[in-house]
Amino acid sequence: MLGYAKWWLGSVFGSKAPLVNTLIIHYGCNLRCRHCSIYSSGAEDAGKNKLSYGEVVDDLRLQFGKGAKIAYFEGGEPTAWSDGGKDLGDLIKAAKEIGYKNIGYTTNGTNGFFTGSDVISVSLDGPKDINDLIRGEGVFDKLMETISDSDFTGSIYANMVIQKDNMDYIEETAKAVMDNKKLAGIIFNFITPPPYEIALTPEEKKAAVGKIRELKKSGYPVLNSKRGLELLTEEDWSKKCPYHVTVFIIPDGSHHNGCPMHDTPSCKQCGFAAVREYYLIKRGNISTISEMSSIFAMSKK
Ligand SMILES: C[S@@+](CC[C@H](N)C(=O)[O-])C[C@H]1O[C@@H](n2cnc3c(N)ncnc32)[C@H](O)[C@@H]1O
Ligand code: SF4
Repeated sequence: MLGYAKWWLGSVFGSKAPLVNTLIIHYGCNLRCRHCSIYSSGAEDAGKNKLSYGEVVDDLRLQFGKGAKIAYFEGGEPTAWSDGGKDLGDLIKAAKEIGYKNIGYTTNGTNGFFTGSDVISVSLDGPKDINDLIRGEGVFDKLMETISDSDFTGSIYANMVIQKDNMDYIEETAKAVMDNKKLAGIIFNFITPPPYEIALTPEEKKAAVGKIRELKKSGYPVLNSKRGLELLTEEDWSKKCPYHVTVFIIPDGSHHNGCPMHDTPSCKQCGFAAVREYYLIKRGNISTISEMSSIFAMSKK
């Protein structure tokens, strides 16, 4: 915990050291989810769409040297990344050797898990029919099979992106998570557009957050902090985004503080739960820090 406390104190006194290093290691993906534009062929065709093993390791070292304690691998689909015989397991191993305190990745769960990390975030966008409408036929069953077959000993949590197609299925999704003993809980986000046509209106967001708060109160494993949930209804984070808490590297090798959408119209309709939690952590909100650190801050080894 001492390392995290030092980071926070530094941040209070104006340090811009990152806490989280988020690495979008490639854009490649086997799925085409309705709400996702990251895999888009535009991105795949736009020159460099993958970081090499050497580039990832250099970046892990660079940001660790600047103070980052948490490494998170993202994509595209990170379990489908490979480079000259290296795979995601090798990246996790490298991050561990460099000294990161907590290592995780987000996955669609269709390729099995790499079990060396501390945390795995699995994308779940509804009960079976709704999840598959958004993510593709058969994806729900494949994800559940991956979870039940895995001997992973760290925390697995679900990440839901609320959009028009699943906004009426929040409770059913939370129940599916509660009933699955291998899932530690669920984090709710709103879609960050584009696409704009499936984003919720401000009124719909308020109703959804009201529902999620009720579920949290009645014992469903909702991992958003209480205050983080309230802040989810605030749409425009272009001025408030805690930019320096997380640094991203994207496949062309460029770095982006906050997120790669920084300074785009998407910032005005930001739906990412992590942005709220990072904001609260930076401001020293004790209940958010304790709720988040019990899941995300500690290594399992
Ligand atoms: C880009 S994916 C990469 C990891 C992996 N392919 C997966 O789907 O879990 C990471 C997370 O971002 C979410 N996501 C994708 N597009 C989004 C959007 N427009 N707004 C908010 N979250 C989004 C996905 O649902 C997923 O949970
Ligand atoms: S699996 Fe992940 S990266 Fe692939 S399309 Fe879906 S959200 Fe995007």
